[in-house]
Amino acid sequence: IAENLTSLREELQKVRAAGKTIAFVPTMGNLHEGHLALVKKAREKADFVVSSIFVNPTQFGENEDLSAYPKTLEADKKHLIADGCGLLYLPTNDIMYPKPDLTRVSVDKVTTLHCGASRPGHFVGVATIVLKLFNQVQPDVAVFGLKDFQQFTVIRTMIDDLFLPIEIVGVDTGRADDGLAHSSRNNYLTAEEREIAPKLYQTLQQTADAIRTGKRSFAELTREAKESLHNAGMTPDYFNISRQSDLEPATEQDRHLVILAAAFLGKARLIDNITVELE
Ligand code: PAJ
Repeated sequence: IAENLTSLREELQKVRAAGKTIAFVPTMGNLHEGHLALVKKAREKADFVVSSIFVNPTQFGENEDLSAYPKTLEADKKHLIADGCGLLYLPTNDIMYPKPDLTRVSVDKVTTLHCGASRPGHFVGVATIVLKLFNQVQPDVAVFGLKDFQQFTVIRTMIDDLFLPIEIVGVDTGRADDGLAHSSRNNYLTAEEREIAPKLYQTLQQTADAIRTGKRSFAELTREAKESLHNAGMTPDYFNISRQSDLEPATEQDRHLVILAAAFLGKARLIDNITVELE
């Protein structure tokens, strides 16, 4: 475990001196199977895996769940060791933000819609902390979950635009048997809400199936999807049929689609997505 930058650098120096490649899995902790699949993928992609746990304040909005964000460090450590993580980096706020930041990373266009529209400033917080972590860890490979499809797109864009010498790898969304995507925020659901929650992925699947079978009236499909989320007891935030490349609204000509959705359910805001590949 490295709790400061000096010990992180010392440990990684040894790893590099031994000629080993490094894969990095940044997280905010409260690890579940979805996170651990990233660690396993990282293990496949490089000789040594570094993970970090840091609940980054700058990516939370004023009325969001920063103070309530679940913390389970002891359990997280056990899981990380069991799944082959070699070094866990646990920086503090003072390490990551030693003085008021004058430098921020802002990725345009791919951050304007979806979660970017509902959570102003969120992706500046994400891109800035991820670039700081990349510069501290200097990994060869970085592994992110496709559950946060827009976040993945933002980081991929930042890596491309800034010529970061890092290979980004995406891992498919880990789900419970009933389809609900694993998320730390599922902890906020009551038993009754947990029964309703799989409806988000079911609705995404229904919409994806309708598109696969030839339906192209995206506005109508979106309206129907929001209505069925609403009827199930959720408050849809957005439900957007987009193209994978730039996350802009899909047209009838697009072949590689992603449907992105977010919905409020009790205290939780759930997000999920599904990709659709057309002939
Ligand atoms: P966090 O929500 O802890 O997620 C850490 C990583 O796990 C992200 O890459 C996320 O996409 C992935 N992940 C979460 N749930 C997943 C699931 N069910 N299946 C597959 N992957 C999943 O995302 C963040 O933290 C932060 O924004 C961070 C990148 C660490 C920057 O602060």
